[in-house]
Amino acid sequence: MMTELKNDRFLRALQGQPVDCTPVWMMRQAGRYLPEYKATRATAGGFMDLCKNPQLACEVTLQPLERYPLDAAILFSDILTIPDAMGLGLTFETGVGPRFSKTVSSQTDIDALPVIQGESDLGYVMDAVRTIRHELNGRVPLIGFSGSPWTLATYMVEGGSSKDFRRAKVMAYNEPAQMHQLLDKLSQSVINYLNAQVEAGAQALQIFDTWGGALSEAAYEEFSLGYMRKIIAGLIKEKDGQPIPVIVFTKNGGLWLEAIADSGCQCVGLDWTIDIGKARQRIGDKVALQGNMDPTILYASASAIRDEVARILASFGRGNGHIFNLGHGITPDVSPENAGVFINAVHELSASYHQ
Ligand code: CP3
Repeated sequence: MMTELKNDRFLRALQGQPVDCTPVWMMRQAGRYLPEYKATRATAGGFMDLCKNPQLACEVTLQPLERYPLDAAILFSDILTIPDAMGLGLTFETGVGPRFSKTVSSQTDIDALPVIQGESDLGYVMDAVRTIRHELNGRVPLIGFSGSPWTLATYMVEGGSSKDFRRAKVMAYNEPAQMHQLLDKLSQSVINYLNAQVEAGAQALQIFDTWGGALSEAAYEEFSLGYMRKIIAGLIKEKDGQPIPVIVFTKNGGLWLEAIADSGCQCVGLDWTIDIGKARQRIGDKVALQGNMDPTILYASASAIRDEVARILASFGRGNGHIFNLGHGITPDVSPENAGVFINAVHELSASYHQ
């Protein structure tokens, strides 16, 4: 039995259908800016303990929905669950970020990596998806997600975060065949992972290509976009009679919007560096657009936040196919009140564009 969705603004906007006001959610909406998140995380032990406990992962997924009238929930997990399941040994240390105990630097390392199966290798993620869908009870749709192969590869080759991606880029330029084998294994794994999330109940998918924008145009096509295209082609298109839309978010991808919009996705996620009206002019109504307020504006005054929301809505203009979001994740020390100002402003100020 399918529970009927009580709020389907987000899914309607993804399909370019009319809505009463612009739907809104925030990347990283479950996170450290919320005191209740920090409390649950402390109960869990560490960040990965939280991800691996479906009941607690569900609890933190729902926390921002208790506070704000958000139009979508996003699975609480991380993009680095795939490399962790491949055996690289992921840990998160406060102040350091993600670290792998093993890195990938040779053909032998790549040969040793398994292709990940969704349900059998990452069952805790699917359990979280099922628990969240059950607890949501149709309030809003649930977004599943994965990292792009290139973004995952940077963490695996670098062993963690990096400023210049020197090791990953050197592998791509010195040993392109090797890098392609790594990206192929990751793409297969991402397809399996996302399809398992859909089977478990995810109603839309986002691919986070956080580091694609660090590449040259040619390298972006070869090492990032090409693989996202293959992934989209391999995804389940429909579940229970509902389409499963895919959002591609390449941070710093503004120069390549047309190519991203041609990837087979239903929505392009925009960071804040591009004007959303200009983005719409370039790609028309072919796909929906998601974004794109600079998350740093959440530190400014309530009136500055409302002004910026109004500016972005005016730039997009009338018509369908806009999902409001930040241009990247909300940062840890934003005040929860300001996040509320942002979300309410989107609903209030957008209504007149939908009459
Ligand atoms: O959006 C959501 O609320 C869903 C949960 C989510 C998290 N990470 C939780 C998280 C999602 C969608 C991600 C994606 C993710 N993870 C990305 C792509 C999106 C982006 O922000 O660019 C990347 C690059 C990662 C890898 C990652 N995870 C890093 C680099 C870090 C450490 C940096 C930091 O913010 O501390 C994480 C940890 C992480 N993932 C946290 C959360 C809430 C903070 C961990 C904590 O509680 O200390």
